Amino acid sequence: MAQFLDALIVCVLTLLGGEEVQIPSLKQDPPAEVDAHRQRMQNTVYPWYDLSETGTFSGVGDVTINYRIFPSAAPSNMALFFLHGASEVMDKYAEFLYDIRQLQPGYDIYFMEHRGMGSSGRLISESKYLYVDDFDNYVRDAKTFYDTVISANNAYFKVFIWAHSLGAAVATSYAQKYRNDIQGLVISSPMMEILTKFPLSLDEDVAYTTTCASTLIGQGEQLALGQELPDTLVDPTSKESWERETVTTSWKRWTVFQELLVNNQDWLAGGGGSTWGSTNGFAKEAYSATFSIRKRKNARRITAPILMFQAGKDFIVGAEGQNTLKKNARNARSFTVVEFEDGYHELYLEKDRIRDQVLNLTSNFLDTF
Ligand SMILES: *[C@@H]1O[C@H](CO)[C@@H](O)[C@H](O)[C@H]1NC(C)=O
Repeated sequence: MAQFLDALIVCVLTLLGGEEVQIPSLKQDPPAEVDAHRQRMQNTVYPWYDLSETGTFSGVGDVTINYRIFPSAAPSNMALFFLHGASEVMDKYAEFLYDIRQLQPGYDIYFMEHRGMGSSGRLISESKYLYVDDFDNYVRDAKTFYDTVISANNAYFKVFIWAHSLGAAVATSYAQKYRNDIQGLVISSPMMEILTKFPLSLDEDVAYTTTCASTLIGQGEQLALGQELPDTLVDPTSKESWERETVTTSWKRWTVFQELLVNNQDWLAGGGGSTWGSTNGFAKEAYSATFSIRKRKNARRITAPILMFQAGKDFIVGAEGQNTLKKNARNARSFTVVEFEDGYHELYLEKDRIRDQVLNLTSNFLDTF
């Protein structure tokens, strides 16, 4: 019955203009390059990462939120606050954090995992489904982290947020609501417009309406259309999974992270590139958050300077929504946009040529203030 309904919905959506997305094929790095990257991660990056302080706090509704602190070597009055994307974990950023630390040794780095993801508490019993009942709870948790961990630790002179995708939507909403907390924002591929890829490419209003209808009939905690769990959730050797996720063109970074993930499957809450695991409830909240955060009334509340990275080949979020945010955020002290023409969604995990620029531009931005 459920399958029949799904098939029927796909038919209707096709009539409404949905198109199948063509997934490009990519070229893998040679094994020696993959191995050099693996060695760097195992011998240098992870040992440093593991030295960080870990902790938890209680988020909205008593959900446990997991976090890490990477203190600078010398006492610091500046902090960098990281927020990850949907279905992600902090560990995926280990290399980026390590390299930022080399460029900017003076910052204390803070990182929290969103509710329902990574090692943070789950909201429904299906622990591998991506679910949230209210997008604003991500923002409220970030505020609690700021109040009870970051600013409780130190009276920081400057706090910057660095955030990717869904995290960047949380960060932008945060900057609208709590203007005095942060001195600058780096938003990488911010989720200001969701592109649907599975089972069809759809207009955001059509997709949003579908998730609203499903939630209304009690399917909020069920998987959205085309989001069934695959037989094998993590396969580091699968070129096909890498291509299908369309999140990075760097094979070495993708596969070495999958090698970590395969041994930590309790971190999972949905698949890379929204390939599986999203519930109707999550999708509904995510769509409506993008509509709200980019609109003029909210965007004009931002006063912090912004550096935004855009991926020229983003299959996950749309540039149009990002450009709307820029146009509407007219009270931001500055708003710089850098586009990486051939970059996929996860610019911080892209091939060296792109990722190194993301690092350098982030570091230069911090130096400006
Ligand atoms: C990043 O900055 C470093 C140090 O200034 C420089 O050596 C490197 O070439 C830069 N990389 C890119 C991609 O701009």
